[in-house]
Amino acid sequence: MYTYIITDLQNSYFIITINRPDKMNALNILTMKEIGMAMDEALADTNVVGIIIIGAGEKAFVAGADIAEFAHFSVAQGKEMAAAGHAVYNKIEQSSKPVIAAVNGFALGGGCELAMACHIRVASEHAKFGQPEVNLGIIPGYGGTQRLVQLIGKGKALELLLTADIIKADEALALGLVNHVVPEEELLYKCYEILNKISAKGPLAIHHIIQCANAVYDETKDGFAMEINAFGEIMSSSDFKEGTSAFLEKRQANFRGE
Ligand code: COA
Repeated sequence: MYTYIITDLQNSYFIITINRPDKMNALNILTMKEIGMAMDEALADTNVVGIIIIGAGEKAFVAGADIAEFAHFSVAQGKEMAAAGHAVYNKIEQSSKPVIAAVNGFALGGGCELAMACHIRVASEHAKFGQPEVNLGIIPGYGGTQRLVQLIGKGKALELLLTADIIKADEALALGLVNHVVPEEELLYKCYEILNKISAKGPLAIHHIIQCANAVYDETKDGFAMEINAFGEIMSSSDFKEGTSAFLEKRQANFRGE
């Protein structure tokens, strides 16, 4: 069904593997489109409770947009390419189901931007991060100028964006760019461990927390008002009744996402 990605359902977790290892999993237009389609598939499937994005092979998560493909793009094509990428990454960021980037190697340019669009980032020890677009005389086009500032602050972000420095996983951890750094063989295990915790919670609560947290960076939304509204609304849900009953009855909650 897909050309450049592989999808797999593992214990209710939907794994999207970007599969162009001979090109460092560089994102051509079709690969980007397929990531969006796979997200739609995962969001529509009620069996899916979490999503993991990883790169094929051992060297790269994603080494950026496909330079060979966009090298001769016109102004209109460039804008179209960036807008399409933004739409896919916004879909990931706004996903009601948690999305984790399992960063198993180079996460450069559009790859670093893809990881940043995910809710949580787990990196293997040999992962490397950077926004090297200025080496090519261009700027990040998939949200890098925005999400890097949001994640690590303007000073550190501008240094990475302006110098094109590539940093190692431990430095990314120190900057707050990634949540965890683990040995390569533990990468997926760590992602499962985090998703196992999240999937035991109320899905409606998870959804609202993601929406409210995203609102912090959206000038068109009042995140405080959203939180007040969602806090009240969720009290009519059976998840809320189940969660509070389970606490009072000293048992594990069994949420249904309703
Ligand atoms: N777009 C298109 N092709 C890419 C690519 C990209 N972003 N990144 C790597 N590739 C291709 C290389 O052209 C090469 O293809 P080839 O074998 O047909 O020549 C193949 O992937 C392997 O890459 P190579 O450069 O030989 O591997 P390396 O181990 O020496 O270096 C990187 C790895 C990631 C450091 C290097 O490939 C690189 O700098 N890539 C570009 C990163 C970048 O600028 N990203 C932002 C793009 S906007």
